[in-house]
Amino acid sequence: MKQDAFILEITNNQEIIQIQEPITVIEETVEENVVEETSCSSVEDEDETLKLTNDTIIRNTSYSQKEILKNIMTLYNNGEAFDCDITASQLKFYLKNRGDEYELPVPKHLFDVYPQSEDVKQIVPFQKIPMPDNSLGSIVFDPPFVISPKTCKSALEGKDKSCLMFKRFSSFYPVSELYYNYYWWLKESYRTLKEDGILVVKCMSTVSGGYQHNSEEYVFMAAMSLGFYCVDKFILNAKARLISGAKYKKQCHSRKYTSVFYVFQKNSKMLNKYNYFELINNMKESNLEGMVWELK
Ligand SMILES: C[S@@+](CC[C@H](N)C(=O)[O-])C[C@H]1O[C@@H](n2cnc3c(N)ncnc32)[C@H](O)[C@@H]1O
Repeated sequence: MKQDAFILEITNNQEIIQIQEPITVIEETVEENVVEETSCSSVEDEDETLKLTNDTIIRNTSYSQKEILKNIMTLYNNGEAFDCDITASQLKFYLKNRGDEYELPVPKHLFDVYPQSEDVKQIVPFQKIPMPDNSLGSIVFDPPFVISPKTCKSALEGKDKSCLMFKRFSSFYPVSELYYNYYWWLKESYRTLKEDGILVVKCMSTVSGGYQHNSEEYVFMAAMSLGFYCVDKFILNAKARLISGAKYKKQCHSRKYTSVFYVFQKNSKMLNKYNYFELINNMKESNLEGMVWELK
């Protein structure tokens, strides 16, 4: 039996905050031995009720990427290790670094375009990930977001601290290389994931040549067009960013202090409920003027 969605009220400094998103819980019917499919997979005991407070609830925002990944594992991967990481690099997502609260289990299948260790196998852009179709339960993808020629002089000859992201993670140039690469790896992820499998994508929009590249929204659109349903989205905040202040006289756009972790699911039923591309196409073809909703 499915419990009705409920609204939580939490007291915070005398104010009542209403959490508007309904939270669904699992209820197990012993006689019928049926477990209703719900959005929350962390409750196992039917007598156990969720005691959510502002301190314990999983939020969609954090200053720690490991906390976000741990929360994604809890909510969407039965608390288990991800199966595969296709941008494994130095495994910074998993291994404990100074100041880290968490250490996460390392995925079984590790790949990268530029492998940094023997445990990581090489993959090549626009070539297949060496895994069969429908074979993985979960994939992590954290591609470079920097747009710059790989032979960029300031990066190659610059001081140790210049172009840190570029040096560590490589870059794309021209910009369309980023868009094509992202699409290819999203498509390969869709092929290799099992039905209901999840894809975690970390991305960050960027500005290049005065143009806003809304890569976060692009990833969302590309994933949806491939058949992924977006089950969740987490925002990673940064307390500080490198600022190349000396070069510019006037600030023209905001400096980005956030990046996004999307959780996509290969779930055609959920996607088709509200496929935004279809919705918008339908709207384009309809005459919306004077429309009135009829409540049934
Ligand atoms: C931001 S880093 C990933 C860091 C990693 N999550 C970690 O925990 O250490 C981006 C990774 O993408 C890889 N990469 C470089 N070019 C790529 C491409 N064209 N397509 C996909 N990945 C690429 C880099 O080798 C790098 O390891």
